Amino acid sequence: MTDYSMAGRMAFVTDHMSILGAIADRFRRERPFDGMTVATRIHVEPKTGVLLEALAAGGARLVAMGNKATTDDATAQYLIDRGIVVLGARDDDDSTIQNHMRELVASRPDLLLDNGAEIIELLVAANQTVRGATEETTSGAITLRGPLAGRVPFPVLVINDSPLKAIVENKHGVGQSVIETIRSATNLLLHRRRLVVLGYGWCGRGIAQYGRAAGADVVVVEPDPIKALEASIDGFQVSTLDTQAPLGHVFVSATGHPGVITVVHMEQMRPNAVLANAGHFDNEIDMTTLRDVAEPSERGADITRYRFASGTVIDVIAEGRMVNLAVAGSRGNSIEIMDLGFSLQALCLERLALDPGSCLNGDQPVPADIDDWVAAAMVTELS
Ligand SMILES: NC(=O)c1ccc[n+]([C@@H]2O[C@H](COP(=O)([O-])OP(=O)(O)OC[C@H]3O[C@@H](n4cnc5c(N)ncnc54)[C@H](O)[C@@H]3O)[C@@H](O)[C@H]2O)c1
Repeated sequence: MTDYSMAGRMAFVTDHMSILGAIADRFRRERPFDGMTVATRIHVEPKTGVLLEALAAGGARLVAMGNKATTDDATAQYLIDRGIVVLGARDDDDSTIQNHMRELVASRPDLLLDNGAEIIELLVAANQTVRGATEETTSGAITLRGPLAGRVPFPVLVINDSPLKAIVENKHGVGQSVIETIRSATNLLLHRRRLVVLGYGWCGRGIAQYGRAAGADVVVVEPDPIKALEASIDGFQVSTLDTQAPLGHVFVSATGHPGVITVVHMEQMRPNAVLANAGHFDNEIDMTTLRDVAEPSERGADITRYRFASGTVIDVIAEGRMVNLAVAGSRGNSIEIMDLGFSLQALCLERLALDPGSCLNGDQPVPADIDDWVAAAMVTELS
């Protein structure tokens, strides 16, 4: 049964996603997805729910699944009650998630919205094709340009490469929500605490900026010399993790790369150092090795304490999963920011539905006319 507070929340979110709302109204009239199955692999929560309802308004049959530990079960039920197939729940284990991913592929989608390129990998492995796909994340783009390069026989529009998404969502959305979530999960003051941000890409820039606004002394670790220069000229101390491991109070990774915070670093940390990850996959903090070498115990719902044989104790938020979505009760990026990102998604899926021939096979940027339309709509919205 639908939870009525959920219906109220959906109405609130829908009312604040006005750009996507205008697109949904047009979809309702023009039905660009009539007769098509659209599979989506993206965090199931209210803002995604508004995107799914917009695609359904355009005639799509939807099969949706979330990412590991980020599904909001109340939103999933709300969508199921409206005829959308939603696979999975927040507490699914890895083998259940794998089964749902296979079910998504078996639904024989015409269009795919992927998030991490894992479904694209499955399609390629199965020699299965689609009319076209979108990819939401940096991590997915890394896979498309690495192991999948030259092997994807359909167009993939990489939403993450849009300058709009980088500037608005990755920087401001992630920056705000990661800092808010760390504060709410720990209930700690960040003021004058040393916050070590790993990665000064789009997400890292935002986390550093919003961390500074919260009063933290921010130190950036960034191997790319040009981005390190940018961090420095933006007023942040630039250092290495080897130097900062014993000094930081809070560590946040946002790199898109595995094993960035190793157990060697963790063992050198000050007592009760707090670790969080904002990157897409839960491997930026080396949790696998940490679980092998340190003793875990709970410290409230979202924080696990790990004690090393040496006596060092550190606290990891949400087991190193994407902190701003995995912490219970966190709401992810703000509504207006996802209005922009999901408007890009909706218009790219429409382009792939109506005119796939205008795109090349493999990864490519969002078409410039779509970027321009959404940017202009957001400027109007913010004015
Ligand atoms: N939490 C969220 O809501 C959210 C939203 C968008 C993206 N993401 C994810 O966040 C991650 C980062 O995304 P982005 O857009 O900032 O990527 P980006 O490519 O702009 O930045 C990543 C940065 O990390 C740096 N880096 C690489 N290895 C490093 C290391 N060992 N130590 C320190 N820095 C290192 C790179 O040089 C680069 O500057 C990705 O996994 C992405 O999928 C999360």
